[in-house]
Amino acid sequence: MPAIDLDHLVQPDRVHRSVYTDQAIFDMEMEHIFETAWVYCGHESQVKEPGQFQTLQIGRQPMVMVRAKDGQINVLYNRCPHRGVQLCGSHSGNTGGSFVCPYHAWSFHLDGKVKAIPLIQGYDGTRLSTDDPDCNMARAARVDNYRGFVFASLSAEGPSLVEFLGDAKVAFDDMCDRSPVGEVEVVPVCHRVVQQSNWKFFMENQLDALHPSVTHQSTGVSARRVENQIKKTQGSAPLHYHYLSTFASSFDQWDSVQTVNFPHGHGILKAYMGLRPTDPDTQEYEALMRQAYGTEKTEEFLSRSIHHVLIYPYLSVQSPLQQIRCLRPLGPDKTLSEIWHFRLKGAPEAIYRRAMWYYNLVNSPATMINADDLENWTRAQWGLQSKGNDWVSFHRNMGGDTEKDGVLYSNNGTSEVVMRNQFKAWRSYMLKAPTAQPA
Ligand code: FES
Ligand SMILES: [Fe+2]
Repeated sequence: MPAIDLDHLVQPDRVHRSVYTDQAIFDMEMEHIFETAWVYCGHESQVKEPGQFQTLQIGRQPMVMVRAKDGQINVLYNRCPHRGVQLCGSHSGNTGGSFVCPYHAWSFHLDGKVKAIPLIQGYDGTRLSTDDPDCNMARAARVDNYRGFVFASLSAEGPSLVEFLGDAKVAFDDMCDRSPVGEVEVVPVCHRVVQQSNWKFFMENQLDALHPSVTHQSTGVSARRVENQIKKTQGSAPLHYHYLSTFASSFDQWDSVQTVNFPHGHGILKAYMGLRPTDPDTQEYEALMRQAYGTEKTEEFLSRSIHHVLIYPYLSVQSPLQQIRCLRPLGPDKTLSEIWHFRLKGAPEAIYRRAMWYYNLVNSPATMINADDLENWTRAQWGLQSKGNDWVSFHRNMGGDTEKDGVLYSNNGTSEVVMRNQFKAWRSYMLKAPTAQPA
């Protein structure tokens, strides 16, 4: 295999098409980025009871997040130390007091330690002993939790979770602060979609304010027409029409929003989402918030200018509507996305229903919004297999970026500073030696 020349492939204003298509580069990404960085495993409410588990993929590693009897959440490699069989075969469930391998019944405590091996005397005189850590399920090197959101890193080295998240942790603050008790709870089913495209298209697209007025024009314009009709006859239209009609915003409107581009490739698309109509449900909710936090804090919590927050390289958080989309790359041209949404604890049911409307209308695979994005990413994947041009352009508003304390800003919402910042992080991960090792 020819050596991968990162300086040639990733330049400040353009990248080589092979970073989206090449298997060797994908393998390197898994090792250097996904199997090193802090990766989102799930929310603590997914594993409320001892024995409850959720399986997931960190890079190429099959993992399981499980609640132990002492209340601790462990993240273990989903692999039997005997002959390698995966211990949990389903996405989620309750394994009871221990994991039991379906092949030869080795069993394990919920922290991964071996519990029992049938006919143990068969190992007398061999190098295998239950005191040997090789008989345990291996553990992720580090596990941490930020406001109920659980992350694991397969590397013992590197920044702490809070350092890794940096200012992008506002994603989780914004989501939780909208609850009168400061907590959210997962809705325990998600949409799972396999995108026929490289994971980086999704991450770039999330803060790409140049595309909505093109890609989503047909949906946005139709929704606006119906919304206006309802307003004319009934005085006001339900909020969910607004979710779709904003996609009809013009180029200029999108260009006037701002992106904030943090270290590690994270970023925010700023735009106030206007989710505060004056109907009785909203009034009831805001009264509960004021009771809990007082007027000033309530205004601060409900007025943040956030449309999306990106945790690079795999998470898009739409905190004002309690949505999370999480990527699990499967190959250079295949990416699993999990689309979750949450309830604000202590908030009225009507407020939850708003999140569900958004989940179904904008983020679900059945919606016209998500479907149009998926189509673009697949076509981009196909297009980049062409030898017609080797380069992908990120020139837009180049030279207009301003940097303050490592954070990149642009006055243009449609600037490709987002992609330039993501590839800056990508390159720095790829240049460092990988350090992943089980604990
Ligand atoms: S492979 Fe798990 S007990 Fe044999
Ligand atoms: Fe889109």
